[in-house]
Amino acid sequence: MYWRMTKHSLQKKTLFLLFSFVLEQKTQVYLFLFLSITIYLHFIFEKIKDTLYIMNNHSRLLKKHNAVQFKDDDYETPSKILNDLVQYLPEGIIYDPFYCNGAVVEEWEKLNRVCINEKKDAFSWKPDNFDMVVSNIPFSIKEKCVKLCIDFDKPFALLMPIDALGSKWIKKYFDKLQFIIPNGRYSFLKNGKMGKGSWFDTMWVCYKLNLPSNIIKL
Ligand SMILES: C[S@@+](CC[C@H](N)C(=O)[O-])C[C@H]1O[C@@H](n2cnc3c(N)ncnc32)[C@H](O)[C@@H]1O
Repeated sequence: MYWRMTKHSLQKKTLFLLFSFVLEQKTQVYLFLFLSITIYLHFIFEKIKDTLYIMNNHSRLLKKHNAVQFKDDDYETPSKILNDLVQYLPEGIIYDPFYCNGAVVEEWEKLNRVCINEKKDAFSWKPDNFDMVVSNIPFSIKEKCVKLCIDFDKPFALLMPIDALGSKWIKKYFDKLQFIIPNGRYSFLKNGKMGKGSWFDTMWVCYKLNLPSNIIKL
């Protein structure tokens, strides 16, 4: 009788142990599954987040790219901007090779300076007589403009976005150039009207102007 009882309780105990072991294993499996799914979902969520971020940035880059290209080069330079430069220029005739509507001639006149700005192709025509080049160049062809003016081998000051300093092409001219950094962002003329302040910083890239230092911050 005693043995039977003991046997019975032993069986119960073993069953309980087995059962709890199975339960534990089941729990472990569930836990394992739960953790795997959570980690998997976490990675998928991160991937979606990254993709959305890249898509968002890519579209911003595309927009920025258009802007950086400066496809719309038709902005003219008011005398307020030219006035920053006038103190660093020698006497003589200014040539501005890049033509928009020719308003820059009058803007120079306001500062008692003579400027030639003709409706001609800058790369196939130049005036017979000029002493220096000053131009707000078409930003979409900065390198070509700098090369053109270096080839003239006359003093020049060319206005362009300050980020041109980071471009590869500027390296080969770097030791010949000096820079004037304006005190703030310029506003340009658009169709004869003064525009709002531009969204980019500019600089005057200068050659043979013998500035007192290589970088002048106005
Ligand atoms: C930023 S605007 C400045 C115009 C003028 N230099 C000024 O300061 O008011 C540059 C102009 O150069 C003109 N341009 C572009 N390529 C040219 C070229 N090969 N010859 C003459 N002008 C050109 C563009 O049409 C644009 O209107």
